[in-house]
Formats: sequence, structure tokens, C-alpha cells
Amino acid sequence: MHPIQRQLRNDHHHLQLVLNCFSKEIDCFDFNAQQDPDMEVILNALDYVREYPDKWHHPAEDVIFNQLLAKKVKESKLIKKLEEEHNKISQETEKINQLFRAAAEDCIVPASDLVESARRYITLQRTHLEQENEIIYPLMDKLFGPDDWKEIEKKIEIQNDPLFNKPSKREFTQLYHHILELEKEREKES
Ligand SMILES: [Fe+2]
Ligand SMILES: [Fe+2]
Repeated sequence: MHPIQRQLRNDHHHLQLVLNCFSKEIDCFDFNAQQDPDMEVILNALDYVREYPDKWHHPAEDVIFNQLLAKKVKESKLIKKLEEEHNKISQETEKINQLFRAAAEDCIVPASDLVESARRYITLQRTHLEQENEIIYPLMDKLFGPDDWKEIEKKIEIQNDPLFNKPSKREFTQLYHHILELEKEREKES
């Protein structure tokens, strides 16, 4: 597998872990939850999405998608929709970041607004990921040869994932360990 393709796949796995972690914190807003939501975990998770998937993963996919569109694949309509969603996701990440930051800074934001926006955001991200995993990513194996990858390499520079691959700051180191713990618990439960 080409290193770019591998990194994109790893990114999906990692983003799923971050979304699981975010989702678990959002469940803590329920009135009968056993523990309070951890605002720091939420803000760091959203910060990561802004810093890496929105900044590197989606633009890299746009390059891949354009290479697929040039081949006039029958999935073109879905590819264009997913490409448009990249902008929408970035905007939504920004909005939700601001909303939770306002709540953390003691501005009055009803918990129901936080929960509703967060769940909508998580669904948007998860549906997007699933469609890419199930329908679009397999096209890379089927349709890309060495020449395609050469073209793609010219347009994408691999970047370091600042959370899962050498955390770039203290907040991400903490979040990384938190996510590992969470996954261990999930494994025990299943
Ligand atoms: Fe995408
Ligand atoms: Fe993706």
C-alpha cells in the first residue's frame, strides 16, 4: 500500500477513536450520567480535529478524489458530495469549537445546545468516514497505478499526525493517554 494511502487509512481509524472519546464525554451531559463531562478532553479533541484532519487529511483526500474524478468513475457524484463536505466539516468544527469554548469560559450555553450540536457533528463525521471507507477508498486499490501515485505525490506532502504520531504538545499527550485508556476499557467491556 502506498504510504499516502496508508496514512489516510490510519487517519480514519484515529479520527474514529477521537470521535468515540468526544461522544463518551457528550454522554456525560445526560442527567443520569455517572460522571461530569471533561471540558478539557472535549476542547483538546476538537482542537486536534481542527489542527490535523481538517488541515491535512481532507485536503489530501481532495487530491485523491480529483485523481478519481479524472477517471470518470461511476462514483463521481458521491465523490463530489464528499469533497463539498470537507468544507462543511471544517466550518462545523470551527462552530462547535467556539460553542464549547464559550461554555468552558462560563458563557451561558444551554447543555441541550451543546449536546445537540455535538451529536449532529459526530454523525456528520461518522457518515462521511463510512462512505469513504466503504465506497471510495477501495477505488484506490482498484484504479491507481504507479503513475497515479506519482502525480498524487507531487501534490501531497505527508505530515505528522500531532496526536497519534509523536504528540506535539502537552494537551495532546494527555488526550492520547486518555484515548488509550478508553480503548482498553472498551476492549474489556466487549
Ligand atoms: Fe473526507
Ligand atoms: Fe477521510
